[in-house]
Parts: sequence; C-alpha cells; structure tokens
Amino acid sequence: MALKNKKIAPGRRLIVALDVPTAREAMRWVRKLRPKVKIFKIGLELFCAAGPSIVKKIAGEGADVFLDLKFLDIPNTMAGAVAVAARLKPFLLNVHGLAGPQALSLCAETVKKENRKTRLIAVTLLTSYDEAEAKRACIETPMKAAVAKLCGASLKAGLDGVVASPLEVKMLRKKFGEDFIIVTPGVRPEWAAKNDQKRIATPRDAIRDGADYLVVGRPVLGASDPLKAVEMIIREIREAV
Ligand code: C5P
Repeated sequence: MALKNKKIAPGRRLIVALDVPTAREAMRWVRKLRPKVKIFKIGLELFCAAGPSIVKKIAGEGADVFLDLKFLDIPNTMAGAVAVAARLKPFLLNVHGLAGPQALSLCAETVKKENRKTRLIAVTLLTSYDEAEAKRACIETPMKAAVAKLCGASLKAGLDGVVASPLEVKMLRKKFGEDFIIVTPGVRPEWAAKNDQKRIATPRDAIRDGADYLVVGRPVLGASDPLKAVEMIIREIREAV
C-alpha cells in the first residue's frame, strides 16, 4: 500500500517498548508516560503474560499500539493469526519477512480485509544480529543485501513497511523511496547503554536517515527519570526532522 505524503508529528515518532512481564506493570508505565508517549509496543513477553486484552487496555488510555509479535509460520497459520490480531485494531502489526512472499501477500490481503487502520509491516533482520551472528543463524547473504531483499519482497507483497536497523534506513530509502513505513529499533541516545543491540544509531541519525518511527525500550524504562528520557529523545527527534 502506498503511503504518500505521510506527515508524522515528532512526538508521535517515538514508540516505547513495554518489555515487562505483567499487565499491571505495563499499565503503570502507560499511565506514567502517556502524557508524552503516543504509541506503545507490546512484544512477546507482555503479550504472553497479559494476552490480547492488554491491547484494548492501552487503547483505553488513548494511546496507539504496535503489536510486535513477529509471526513466522506457514501461510495459512499466519493469515489466521494476523486476522485475529488485526481485529484488536493495533496501529502497527508485524510478521517476519523470512516467512516468504506467499505468506506475506496472504497476510497483507487478510489485514486489509479486517480493518483499514492497521498497518502491516515486516521484520527484516533483527537489530541484535551482526554479520557473524546472522551467518550462525544460516543467513549467508550479506546483511545489507538481505535486508534490501526482504524489504523489496515485503513491499511487493503489499505490506505497508518494514522494521529495520538504523544502519539500513538510508539504503532502504534510496532503493525504495518514501512511500512506506520504516520502524527502527536499536536506537540508542548518546547517554544510553547499548545492551544486546549491535546495529544501532542515535535518534537524531535514525530520523535524519529516513526512519519514520523509533522503538526505544531500555533507555526509557531503565532511566533514572523515564519521563525526562522521553522528553530528551523527542527533543532530539524534533531537531532532526
Ligand atoms: O530495549 P531496546 O530499546 O533494545 O528494545 C528494542 C525493542 O525492539 C525490543 O522490544 C525488541 O524486541 C524490538 N525489536 C528489535 N529488533 C527488531 C525488531 C524488534 O530490537 N528487529
């Protein structure tokens, strides 16, 4: 789906990853950060602990949700999963690009039938991979080329965009243009620890290179003053757009 002239307010470009083990903890974070944060990410940990109702709970606080479950299975199973996930009306939903063109096309079609609000995006390669780790995971194609190929296949299949590391954003914009969403994890402000992320960049560089949305987890949730951390990241984004 072409997404022409997307205009995204700087404050909406930050997605905070709620990587916590209970609904209670997640909702505490949502209420605390909600004045500044417009989109929260529910990943595998929180979804396994809290189930689908957590999507509605967060929406009930007036925030949007990125449902980051990275589905990877046979086409029929994936289509069934994205259909029920889309009924929860997350703003963003993802599957894994490695699922292949047939599964990706079926998922794109299915989500469009379910609702027009949800944007379906594909994970290219995890931001915790470097070349050596990708090779150990049997990905023999050099990483940049693999990410480009997975992005091309996802867009051709009718998805709205991809999840990619900040180091690939510039290359993807050059190759595929502006009319698709790039969501970028592996974002680390200068003042934050890298943790297990390998292909990282600052919020400023990721936005300048063409990322639409930045996913940030530990630099916010682990900060001594999380709201201040959010403000600093949004300020950096505002300066970069
Ligand atoms: O704490 P941190 O900022 O590293 O969190 C990044 C979040 O983005 C995690 O929830 C992780 O699952 C997610 N993610 C990622 N790399 C991808 C896709 C999603 O780090 N390629």
